Amino acid sequence: MPETSELAADALAQKSAARVVGNPRILIIDDETAIRESLETLLTLEGFTVSAAGDGSSGLELLARNEYDLLLLDLALPGESGIDLLPRILELQPSLPVIMITAFGTVGNVVEAIRAGAENFVQKPWDNEKLLADIRAAIGKRRAEEEVVQLKRTLKQRYNFSNIVGKSEPMLRLFDLIAQVAPSRSTVLIQGESGTGKELIAKALHANSPRRDRPFVPVNTGAVPSDLLESTLFGHVKGAFTSAISAKKGLFEIANGGTLFLDEIGTMSIDMQAKILRVLQDRRFMHLGGVQEIQVDVRIIAATNVNLQEAVRQGRFREDLFYRLNVITLELPPLRSRKEDIPMLAAHFLKFYADENDTVAPSLSPEALRVMMDYEWPGNVRELENSMERGVVLSTSSTITPDLLPAQLTGATYSTSLLEQQPNASLFDLMEEIERRIIADRLERCHWNQTEAAEYFKIPLSTLNQKIKRLNVEVKKRAKD
Ligand SMILES: Nc1ncnc2c1ncn2[C@@H]1O[C@H](COP(=O)(O)OP(=O)(O)OP(=O)(O)O)[C@@H](O)[C@H]1O
Ligand SMILES: [Mg+2]
Repeated sequence: MPETSELAADALAQKSAARVVGNPRILIIDDETAIRESLETLLTLEGFTVSAAGDGSSGLELLARNEYDLLLLDLALPGESGIDLLPRILELQPSLPVIMITAFGTVGNVVEAIRAGAENFVQKPWDNEKLLADIRAAIGKRRAEEEVVQLKRTLKQRYNFSNIVGKSEPMLRLFDLIAQVAPSRSTVLIQGESGTGKELIAKALHANSPRRDRPFVPVNTGAVPSDLLESTLFGHVKGAFTSAISAKKGLFEIANGGTLFLDEIGTMSIDMQAKILRVLQDRRFMHLGGVQEIQVDVRIIAATNVNLQEAVRQGRFREDLFYRLNVITLELPPLRSRKEDIPMLAAHFLKFYADENDTVAPSLSPEALRVMMDYEWPGNVRELENSMERGVVLSTSSTITPDLLPAQLTGATYSTSLLEQQPNASLFDLMEEIERRIIADRLERCHWNQTEAAEYFKIPLSTLNQKIKRLNVEVKKRAKD
């Protein structure tokens, strides 16, 4: 399991603090060089730190790597318009104020952009003073909001969640909850899909509790057969059963003073559930075959990827045990509902596995990042971690392109993820979007050699050309061989 010296919560706090004292950073995405240059000059003279991108994908790449205070976004970018880009931009930086740059007479589109989350708009040719006033107002508003959040979090900074990466709202809320809950002895139930980080959180709770110098003992209660689990947890005396040739301590004793992590509790047998319930009530138990009661001081953290309430309804989980465990519940959100964490997690794992392999961490190409942002990640953070490890091992250059990502990310999952993203789209629209992605993906894999792509698809080059135009597929110049 990766460790890093970066303290996720602290780093975030420092990042926003740095932004508050430093020059505000503005990103411009506009395809017209003249517009970019005149905005850059104006804003730099006014003391802003300015970056610029000439198209959507390089803009997205910058946004994935850097934090900005404001974005000036051209509404009429060629290929994908500013409005199309907006949801993906806000997925990366949800609280980023965006001012749209529009041509005269596109008011309808502006309304659409504001609905999609843009803060404001400026019409070409713009009035410098008004533009600067709008920019300062938007940045000021955002900073005020951030400072409130910052203040609330200062208190929590003495906690160390060093290896938990995340900056999305649900993860920040979780950091707050961990900080509140960790010091107590209360039982905690962690619920979440497979690979969302339940064990990681359990360890963080222990590491931030007064028990941190005592043992953290994990036990997979679902994987161990019932009779063996009983002696594993409670220990046994010599001769308790045929193979008990010597006495053995159980995990409850080994964890004394520390934390016992009951993993996969949802799959524990009914028989075992009854036995656990007794210990949870009074922290007393007996060795198997023993006669003496043993008292322990153990904090219990349980985790499950099945819905325990549902299991109770179906009679597979004891209701009384559920209520014992359900004192404080932490819900780990699936990765697909906090996609803005993806670039940060990817960078974290790329660095970790590069360090492990003694290489320099590669970065993701804008196309690879896009594939990752579009994917639904059924295996959550674990799947992302594995994909990045694979990328580090397979990459021969400093960038990871989509062909180095596992096939499920680029292939058959288009249709399901699209359906979830665009529940109201017609079948025709969905088919077009799938066709567009397949063509874009293949073109990239062929290094923009259209003849090669046409051969791959077994269609004439002219047909591919027509499709590229009709579907508005982004075409790059062929890289020089
Ligand atoms: N927010 C995160 N930051 C960094 N690493 C993470 C994060 N969430 C999960 N991981 C990593 O992903 C992997 C899976 O996490 P973990 O084993 O805690 O998941 P889990 O919820 O217990 O999964 P399962 O239900 O399959 O047991 C681990 O290597 C863990 O370190
Ligand atoms: Mg686990």
